[in-house]
Amino acid sequence: MDVEIIELGPDRLPAVVDLCRRALDLPEDSAEAAAIVDTLAVRAAADRPVLPLGAVRGGELLGVLLGSVSQRDPRHGHVDLLAVAPEVRRQGIGRALLAEAERRLAGLGAGELLLVGNPPHYAWPGIDVRYTPAVCAALRLGYQQDRTAWNMTADLAEGSAALRSTEAAERRLADAGVTVRRAERGDLPALAAFARTTFGGAWDSELAGSLDRPEGGAHLAERDGEILGFAAYGSTRPSWFGPMGTAPAAEGSGIGGVLLRRCLRDQAATGLNTAQIGWVGPVPFYANAAGARIERVFFLYRKALTGQE
Ligand SMILES: CC(C)(COP(=O)(O)OP(=O)(O)OC[C@H]1O[C@@H](n2cnc3c(N)ncnc32)[C@H](O)[C@@H]1OP(=O)(O)O)[C@@H](O)C(=O)NCCC(=O)NCCS
Repeated sequence: MDVEIIELGPDRLPAVVDLCRRALDLPEDSAEAAAIVDTLAVRAAADRPVLPLGAVRGGELLGVLLGSVSQRDPRHGHVDLLAVAPEVRRQGIGRALLAEAERRLAGLGAGELLLVGNPPHYAWPGIDVRYTPAVCAALRLGYQQDRTAWNMTADLAEGSAALRSTEAAERRLADAGVTVRRAERGDLPALAAFARTTFGGAWDSELAGSLDRPEGGAHLAERDGEILGFAAYGSTRPSWFGPMGTAPAAEGSGIGGVLLRRCLRDQAATGLNTAQIGWVGPVPFYANAAGARIERVFFLYRKALTGQE
């Protein structure tokens, strides 16, 4: 095989996007190739070590792997994206890209490689089960499935449960002194602090992504200037919803449903027919509040790198 595996520089990003458009076989992924590559190769690089590998022959890009090191645990390396051009599959290119990623991420200190989304910058929780060749390749190359994850799909067609009015619920909240409004860029520090103190998670990057990107946004609920909940969308991918959170003390008051449907209404207004509620979470809540259904299912894989060169 006269294919060479190289580290890709920023000048190759347009070629990576073109390749992903062709190589991601599911239309919902192909359509968002530009945002996916921006999230995994550009935005992620601000927060963690990122490994962009390409398979090239005669200057032509035939395959791409975007890898990274976990922000939470540097012993974990991640494969965030792997795609090979349709016309050169089953020639060992995927295998060569993965082997190089294993070698380099082990060199950066990773003892394990995960075929799992690396929050906060991820495009999938794991391998969508409909990418069956990828499932086969993962098993063949020594990866073990250890978890399953799923998204929920919310229909955004006119008249759908996701788009039902929030007016009555917002009036009830107002009677209790709770205001619901669109979040602005200036709300970011307070939102990030709320997420950290209430849930212990660092959602700064995801919230910043939602507030910065033209296809993103967020809504929040507050009482006397104190944030009680938020919901955001469009951070990692235009059609994806999340994250969201309601303060435990305010749960059951209807805040979550209102914030969720406000976001989904915004997403519908951008022309989307459906939204993906990513890496769920409380299934009954989304089913009730937005008529969402489980649709995309992902297998998550891992492989020990210890003992490799
Ligand atoms: C998954 C993918 C990257 C594999 O790339 P590839 O270059 O064709 O893979 P390789 O030729 O290195 O295959 C390695 C092994 O995986 C297995 N495999 C790969 N494709 C397979 C298929 N269609 N059916 C069965 N096994 C398959 C085989 O065991 C193969 O080894 P072998 O040919 O010696 O038997 C490619 O199919 C692809 O780009 N798919 C679309 C994007 C995708 O699914 N990305 C991952 C999800 S995010």
